[in-house]
Parts: sequence; structure tokens; C-alpha cells
Amino acid sequence: MASSISTSASVTKCLFPVAGLGTRFLPVTKEIAKEMLPLVNRPIISYGVEEAVESGCSNIIMITGRTKRSIEDYFDTSFELETLLKTRRQTELYDKIQKISAMANILYARQSKPLGLGHAVLCGESFCQGEFFGVILPDDVFVADVAVMKQLIAVHEERGGTVVALEEVPRGEVSRYGIVRSEIDGNGIHRILDMVEKPSLDTAPSNYAIMGRYVLSPSIFPLLAEGHVGAGGEIQLTDAMKRLLKTEPVWGIVYKGKRFDCGTQKGWLAANIELALTDPELRPVVLQVVEDHRNR
Ligand code: G1P
Repeated sequence: MASSISTSASVTKCLFPVAGLGTRFLPVTKEIAKEMLPLVNRPIISYGVEEAVESGCSNIIMITGRTKRSIEDYFDTSFELETLLKTRRQTELYDKIQKISAMANILYARQSKPLGLGHAVLCGESFCQGEFFGVILPDDVFVADVAVMKQLIAVHEERGGTVVALEEVPRGEVSRYGIVRSEIDGNGIHRILDMVEKPSLDTAPSNYAIMGRYVLSPSIFPLLAEGHVGAGGEIQLTDAMKRLLKTEPVWGIVYKGKRFDCGTQKGWLAANIELALTDPELRPVVLQVVEDHRNR
């Protein structure tokens, strides 16, 4: 299958859909953007932004909604705080705070209607200007030696085309994800032949699920603009990629790393424990709590 768009150019732009209301995490998300919940000492969203920057994508667009202003504030310069820390000569803290706003160029666009992930991506069309771009769903937080977005970009640079992150999930969970049908080549790379969003257990073509990282072709935009309504009554990115498959290659890789679904309480809690256990100062605290609990 030949791609109509030739590319070996690197991916430098990344889109973050962050307009979702976080209903799986109520009541805390009634007033706090789910992306701003802390993972140890930083908000969930900052892990995704760091991953994008580490992967060479320091141009970022966040597709936000009405309740998400705190995300913009977090990544903006905090003039009063920086001045105060400077005056007090708290240099280490000043550097830490200053780095947050300096780390990436972030633009914001509004998704004014909750029409789904596909629609959120479509809201970023003018930002992408005909280039391949990354998409990061920040609820999926990865702990990996090589940033998962970087793993995807490496495949894109070698082969061109669209690339998605895959994970084998238990069969009972297929209805929560986009699921692919694919052929695996000698290098372990999946050539995707079909995909379906949130299939039932008996119609799922495999148990390889798409996780929240994509390198997308700009050819996705006209397909999204067709406005087909799919699973859950939403415009689904998976449905547009399924149509993209007919004209351009779509690859999948089983990412190397560990994923935490921080859009759920269990995943968020597990991520906090995992990250604390890898921090030399916090590790003894976690182990002590577990030990005390065992001895009770
Ligand atoms: C979205 C995508 C789905 C993907 C999932 C990964 O679903 O539509 O294809 O498998 O993210 O987290 P959502 O979790 O928004 O329902």
C-alpha cells in the first residue's frame, strides 16, 4: 500500500485532547480538572507534556473546555510567585517553577461541544498545517525508559504513515478500547488491516487495544470532518483511522513500558504508588505504611 503523503520529516507538534469532564473520577472532578490531579507532586497533564517534549514535540496544542482554565494557568508564567521566590533567593524552587512555563510552546483551542475524541482532534486542524502530528491522551500515563511517543515517532520516521500504540488487554476488557486486526511482521510491527471502537467481546477482531498515543497523518482531518457518528454517539478517531487505512498505511507497535489509566481512581492510585516507590525519598514512606498495615 503506497502512502500518498511521503514523509520522513520528524514530528514536532503534539495535540492533547483535554476537554473531557472526568465523570469516572467524580466527585473530585466536579471542581478540579482531572488532568490537574496530582501524581506525586505534579499534575497528571505534566507527565504527558514532558513525554511530548522528550520526543521532540515542543509545539503543543491543548483542546480544552470551559472547566479547564487551571491547565492554562499551570503552564503560564507565574510572575508573582517567581518574583517572590527570587526575592527570597529560593533558587532551586524558582528554577523548578520557571521550567514549567519554559518547557514547551503551548496553544489552546476550545472544543465547545462534547462530540468525542475525533471531534477534539479536528479542532486542532489549523495548528497541524498539513504535517504529521502526535496525539497524547494524558489520562494514559506511561513509565518507560524511552518515551512512548518517541517509540511511535521512530516507526513513523522509518516507514512513514500513521502509527498507534498497542497493548494486549484481557479479552473481557476489549469493549473499553479501540481494537485492531493486524498482521505482525518480522520486526514485531503491526500492519493494521482493520479497527473497531469499543467492540463487544464476540465481535472484537483481537485483543490488541489502541492506547492513548498516536502519530497521525494530516489526511485524517477531511475524514473526521465527514462527521460520522460512531460508538457512544460520538465522532470517533478510530472510525476515521479505519477509513484512512484504505489509502495510507497505519502501523501499530506494542509499546515498551508500563501504562497507568489515571482517568480511573484505581489507575491513578497505582501510578502514585509506582512513582513514589521509584523516588528515593518517598519509597521508605510507602513501604512503612504497608508494613504498619500488615502488622496491625
Ligand atoms: C479512547 C479511544 C480508544 C482508545 C482509548 C485509550 O477511548 O477512543 O480507541 O483505545 O482512548 O485510552 P476513551 O478512553 O476516550 O473512551
